[in-house]
Amino acid sequence: MSDNYIIKTENLTRKFGDLVAVDGLNLEIGQGEIFGLVGPDGAGKTTTIRMLAAIMDPTEGQATVAGYDTMKQAEAIKHRIGYMAQQFNLYADLSVQENLDFFADIFGVRGRERKERITQLLNFARLAEFTNRRAAHLSGGMKKKLALACSLIHRPEILYLDEPTTGVDPVSRREFWDILSDLHIEGVTILVSTPYMDEAERCSRIGLIYRGQIIVCDTPDRVKGLVEGELIEVRPVAEDRGVGLIRRAEATITSLPGVLEVQTYGDLLHIFVDNAAQRAPQLRAALAAQSIQAEDLRQTHARMEEAFISLIRRQQEEQARTEKSPGGES
Ligand SMILES: Nc1ncnc2c1ncn2[C@@H]1O[C@H](COP(=O)(O)OP(=O)(O)OP(=O)(O)O)[C@@H](O)[C@H]1O
Ligand SMILES: [Mg+2]
Repeated sequence: MSDNYIIKTENLTRKFGDLVAVDGLNLEIGQGEIFGLVGPDGAGKTTTIRMLAAIMDPTEGQATVAGYDTMKQAEAIKHRIGYMAQQFNLYADLSVQENLDFFADIFGVRGRERKERITQLLNFARLAEFTNRRAAHLSGGMKKKLALACSLIHRPEILYLDEPTTGVDPVSRREFWDILSDLHIEGVTILVSTPYMDEAERCSRIGLIYRGQIIVCDTPDRVKGLVEGELIEVRPVAEDRGVGLIRRAEATITSLPGVLEVQTYGDLLHIFVDNAAQRAPQLRAALAAQSIQAEDLRQTHARMEEAFISLIRRQQEEQARTEKSPGGES
């Protein structure tokens, strides 16, 4: 795939004053990939996408998109990409049809091609029945689909989607992703940022971004495989269902031999251990000694969410160590 990268960045960096929003990114995205940029709030996802959309210049480093330099050949890039920004704005007072017409005007899509394209997009986005409805009266999921259709009016070969389904119900999110799969099959390269782990799982590769740096970049399966140990899930239950129960259970378990990491999910604990079969009875016994029952205890597989939390935690510990050590960077 080495020469087939449609997006390539070298040391791509963006500073805002002292803040390094994107820090030395080296990304290579192949033609036809669905690449997920996954990271918490403020990680640098939007800033990265803006630079790749050639609407913001890096302060250091460079990027090429479809072979064009984002700083020197911004116009060429703008015609090849579709960009659904995080705050993508439809015109609320315009109908579905009028919004599509508006974006067709912007991109100079005219005549028969425009008519055909809009009909196709309306079908594709499952909006054909709603052409006359004003955007303001569409459901959240329909708004997102219309925004996607508007981003596709000029047949871009590359599509950037910045948190396209945030705030949308799960059924609509699934439908939106079915549409993305259709685009993927058509050969469109998709760069999508998302805070949702189930969406990360649907990407061909993901880059986990944290504090402006990509901490891991690989297929979802390999990223999940990076978490050490075996996973046990348990629901701690006690007579005194107090607020402190989950914390008390966590503290009890964290100090046990063979326990690598403990994560909390609501009233569940996810415990990474060296050997699940060996440690499960020990966990149960240690909790029982604190008058806590280990309900629904089972061995399970790490999902993207556990991997993500674990990898970020590791990164935080590493950064804390570097900041503390006298020779380390500040
Ligand atoms: N124009 C700007 N001026 C100053 N700081 C900015 C600007 N844009 C972004 N930042 C800062 O850069 C960092 C990265 O922001 P960015 O919007 O890229 O993150 P994000 O991963 O998209 O976050 P979110 O998930 O909340 O959308 C944040 O600390 C943000 O406050
Ligand atoms: Mg953002």
